[in-house]
Amino acid sequence: MRLVLQLSSGSPQLAEAEAAALYPGLQRHGLVATAEGSPKLLCRLVLTRFAGKLIAEASALEKLKLPPYKSFAIRVSRVGGSEPSSDIIRAIAPKIRGKVNLESPAKVIRIFTDGRKYWATEQLYEYREKSLAVRDVNARLAFHPTSLQPKYARLLVNLSGVAHGKILDPFCGVGGIVLEAAEMGLRAEGVEISERYAEGARENAWFYRLEKRIRVDNADFLSWKGGHYDAIVTDLPYGKSSGLFGRKLDSLYSKAFVKMKSHSSKLVAMAQKDLTPMLREAGWHVQQKFDFYVHRSMRRHIHVCSL
Ligand SMILES: C[S@@+](CC[C@H](N)C(=O)[O-])C[C@H]1O[C@@H](n2cnc3c(N)ncnc32)[C@H](O)[C@@H]1O
Repeated sequence: MRLVLQLSSGSPQLAEAEAAALYPGLQRHGLVATAEGSPKLLCRLVLTRFAGKLIAEASALEKLKLPPYKSFAIRVSRVGGSEPSSDIIRAIAPKIRGKVNLESPAKVIRIFTDGRKYWATEQLYEYREKSLAVRDVNARLAFHPTSLQPKYARLLVNLSGVAHGKILDPFCGVGGIVLEAAEMGLRAEGVEISERYAEGARENAWFYRLEKRIRVDNADFLSWKGGHYDAIVTDLPYGKSSGLFGRKLDSLYSKAFVKMKSHSSKLVAMAQKDLTPMLREAGWHVQQKFDFYVHRSMRRHIHVCSL
């Protein structure tokens, strides 16, 4: 199926990387992207605002040919150009046979435009931050001071490109990442040195009825014996609230990066600083690197690596 996506304007490169990881071959035209693939993975995306199934595309509105619908509503994603959305709706509506129903239409027709081109789609996905609120860090049974909000945990998992399979978070805290991975249908394993947090991750998995897909070991990752994973996805300990258990930060990171190579050939690691040199030293190829603000005062670095 040909899909059209509207990428989030806040961090378009990161939004493109997230979508391209799940839809290889994705092509970006400003904030609009087109891709070939199954619509099933769309609901995972956190930096895509809307997505739809392509029905028609043209460089002028009058050239768009649209099928009939029992009832429909037209919505516009205008990410370029100056044509008012209301003009686009007025031009398109008479071209579609069927009843206009703004309350509960059989189909939402979403027109994406960058000002030069129009993509007419049947809407399949709209990102709703509220749908993740149920697993907000403050809504979970067990709390961790540096746990990731569901949106960012999902982003890291998606950047790994694992559509089906198993991921590992070797520094899993109370399970921010493993919860989202399991919620998106993956199997997820976590390792956590603190007994209290490891138990917290298990409680959270139970609380969200995800315990069948999640396994958490209470262990020091550096001496842990585990299996092989489609990807390792992790938010590294920072050394303050997320303790280091007597280790020096750089020494923990470099030993962990070397050990990770025997468990996966794909790594997505988030940290407070740029770890590119250390990752290279450990033998990882840093394919993509992003800086972004989790909120105004909290900057993070995401490294997407392969062997
Ligand atoms: C940034 S926190 C992870 C938070 C987690 N993403 C969450 O959502 O709850 C890092 C975690 O790594 C754990 N940790 C530190 N050293 C470790 C080690 N050697 N092996 C396993 N876990 C470790 C800390 O106890 C801490 O919970």
